Amino acid sequence: MLTFKASGEIRAYFKSKSERIGLVPTMGALHYGHLSLVRKACAENDYVVVSVYINPTQFNHQIDFESYPSNPSSDMALLNPFSDKIIFYTPDHKDLYPGEIQSNSYDFGSITAHMEGLFRPSHFNGVATVIEALFRNIQPQKAYFGEKDFQQLQMIRNLSVKKQMAVSIVGCPTIREKDGLAMSSRNLLLSLEQRKAAPIIYATLQDLNKNYLKSDVSLMSRYFKEKVEKSCLKVEYFFVASIDDLIPTSKLELNKKYRFFVAVYAGKTRLVDTVELDRI
Ligand code: PAJ
Repeated sequence: MLTFKASGEIRAYFKSKSERIGLVPTMGALHYGHLSLVRKACAENDYVVVSVYINPTQFNHQIDFESYPSNPSSDMALLNPFSDKIIFYTPDHKDLYPGEIQSNSYDFGSITAHMEGLFRPSHFNGVATVIEALFRNIQPQKAYFGEKDFQQLQMIRNLSVKKQMAVSIVGCPTIREKDGLAMSSRNLLLSLEQRKAAPIIYATLQDLNKNYLKSDVSLMSRYFKEKVEKSCLKVEYFFVASIDDLIPTSKLELNKKYRFFVAVYAGKTRLVDTVELDRI
């Protein structure tokens, strides 16, 4: 597996080649959710750049940034089966932020106005800044993102159109643990009790999907809170938003596609999940 710290070296490596390059941006502490993106990227490209960079500008709290898990040797081991195709890119700050480490300012309209955008102000400016830098530095033909962070995925689609970047954005389904908990690097921070409680998040979303779609959203929200907060978890938000504009709704309309968006605290650890609603 080739490893680079500077995007200039990656560009030099690709200079005289015409291979298809895929990019999988990550913040490391890799798990099988990340690997599903890598697997798809390897199937569709000649080379796949996997970046690992804990991006300081997308964190709202310094403590969250500082406690973000990091495990480079386990990351390398997980990527090893794909090593023929992989370029492991672990940039320094200055490779992505040549000047000061600060976000650019973007306007994504309704896409980032609610859910994560509302509860984590400036988060998406940080993500967009680092993704724009990665796209410019690596110039991949395709880039892979998880539906687990659906709002992020739609924001990045919008970014690539707005900035006229020649990259196609590929969305990949959420990979879950056997008990339904969406895989996440943050799951490593859960205590035993919190880890035991966490599957109720997905179980309740499934329950709502099966049994409660004809009720109004405020009732669904109350039900979600009631179920989830029976344990040590605390709901930060519950929204149903249309897939097109990501604007939360209180009333479901026929023939429109919606998703549940939830954020739940387990102690200091914040877990997010999203599931598409079955048609009513
Ligand atoms: P990170 O949380 O490391 O996730 C990297 C990519 O893996 C994202 O596209 C995310 O949606 C996807 N992913 C995470 N868990 C997943 C799961 N269980 N199933 C499928 N895909 C999953 O998201 C980020 O990093 C950062 O914001 C980043 C885009 C790298 C910018 O810093």
